[in-house]
Amino acid sequence: MNIQELLLARFKTALAAIDAPENAPAPLTRSTRPEFGEYQFNGAMALAKMLKQKPRDIAEKIVAAVELDDVADKLEIAGPGFINIHLSNGFLAKQIPAMVSDAHLGMEKEAQQTVVVDYSSPNLAKEMHVGHLRSTIIGDAVVRVLEFLGHKVIRQNHMGDWGTQFGMLLAHLSDKLAAQEVAETALEDLEHFYREAKVRFDEEDGFADRAREYVVKLQSGEEQCMTLWQQFIDVSIAHSEEVYNKLNVTLKREHVMGESAYNPELAGVITSLKEQGIAVEDQGAQVVFIDEMKDKEGKPAAYIVQKSGGGYLYATTDLAAMKYRSFDLQADRNLIFTDARQALHFKQTEIVGRKAGFSRPETTYEHCPFGMMLGSDGKPFKTRTGGTIKLADLLDEAVERAEKLIAERSTDLSEEERKQVARIVGIGAVKYADLSKNRTTDYVFNWDTMLSFEGNTAPYLQYAYTRVVSIFRKAGVDAASLNAEISLQEAQEHALAVKLTQLVEAINTVSAEATPHVLCTYLYELASLFMSFYEACPILKPGIDESLKQSRLMLAAATANTLKVGLGLLGIETLEKM
Ligand code: ARG
Repeated sequence: MNIQELLLARFKTALAAIDAPENAPAPLTRSTRPEFGEYQFNGAMALAKMLKQKPRDIAEKIVAAVELDDVADKLEIAGPGFINIHLSNGFLAKQIPAMVSDAHLGMEKEAQQTVVVDYSSPNLAKEMHVGHLRSTIIGDAVVRVLEFLGHKVIRQNHMGDWGTQFGMLLAHLSDKLAAQEVAETALEDLEHFYREAKVRFDEEDGFADRAREYVVKLQSGEEQCMTLWQQFIDVSIAHSEEVYNKLNVTLKREHVMGESAYNPELAGVITSLKEQGIAVEDQGAQVVFIDEMKDKEGKPAAYIVQKSGGGYLYATTDLAAMKYRSFDLQADRNLIFTDARQALHFKQTEIVGRKAGFSRPETTYEHCPFGMMLGSDGKPFKTRTGGTIKLADLLDEAVERAEKLIAERSTDLSEEERKQVARIVGIGAVKYADLSKNRTTDYVFNWDTMLSFEGNTAPYLQYAYTRVVSIFRKAGVDAASLNAEISLQEAQEHALAVKLTQLVEAINTVSAEATPHVLCTYLYELASLFMSFYEACPILKPGIDESLKQSRLMLAAATANTLKVGLGLLGIETLEKM
């Protein structure tokens, strides 16, 4: 149950009962300190102003009118007229059983929306790099949360599989194949392959011309060239899939909807823009001048949709994609995860696309930008020699490092178990380090902090989870079969129960704002509150009252389930033993 929504509904009824004007604001927030209760209703001040009465008098009227006997055991008026709400233990106790073993944590589904999520979207000419790591991880967590809430999610991997750079690559590939190499080997290291092709393009006589011919052949769909292109794309997608598997990400080949898929639509996009007088010719190119975005001299931003030679651009494809998602896929929401440097592009695309009718007005266009991943020197993350870091290598290193740590900590694991733990902890650490940061800020990639068993990290949470489940092992009970009355006596029990009920708020925020860090913070706080509870409230102490023991086991089980499901929503696995 969403307690915040429940409270809000009750306060709105109360406002109506005291004849408050319909537009009276009803702000309800979390309390900042436990002594102020859990929530605070702050509507009295604004209403008092509207009615020209004293805020505290109004607050008293609201308190008298609001019906919260089943939810709160104390309402108190503080300061100028804040109403502090203390949730009752009886109410909280009723919320917990649904969270004990249900994979859905007792949450009701939201109204279903169709949400198109564009994420990962690497450029196939090159190896996936760390920018795509962020897009992949963050996008996948948001996708999982949306599906958990019952929305219909359509994944779109908008891969960069088209463009003039393919001319050079295909010319180079065709030479390699002519020399009896197979595509898989030739393209084993895409970064290396790209460099080789570039050197030939810059230095070798005649190669640049051949590359250009390939561009023309590609654009006209010449059969042999298309076969070659398809080979290139297949190998390159396979590289990405390898990374997705390692990362435990839900993207599959069927979600690929690369730039090339929009080729047949691009001419129509331009015609439509021209016919509507939105695009005009400027030095041979087709350009949209965006009046809504002017520079200091008052010159409107120029958004190019077709080059003077007739070639299309990234922007043209995005306009076609907008149309496809809004009309063909019937998206209610359209989310796109890329780094913040593309913010201007998407802002302009939205203005132009909406003006041209490429989106139904009710479809959202939400660019979800993220900051950069930095090295310890504060500069963009690179290898020691300044090269781009291959994602697959980075993930292998994470697992290796985790394995060393595990070997030092846990001695009673078999070789095989240790490998499994290392994979789950290592990958979890990389993902969580990324997800737990506010998406829009840059962050410093640091092996030691992300792999630490202390602080807001994956290993800490994964370890917290195994600690909780070890209680059931020791007690010899199956958590799923628990079914006891919950009684909350100690402050730590109350605090833990409150936190458990607030998962739904965290998840709703992630869904609305595409910010997985909110769920990370929630899980970290939950784990920390559990640790305090466990210290203060013994469960397995000999001689403990049986009903108290059962009640506390219920709290522990709800915590374990929440940690497991919550980490699962972030795409992070848990372990029964580590
Ligand atoms: N391939 C692009 C890049 O690597 C990201 C594409 C994002 N999606 C889009 N519809 N433009 O920067």
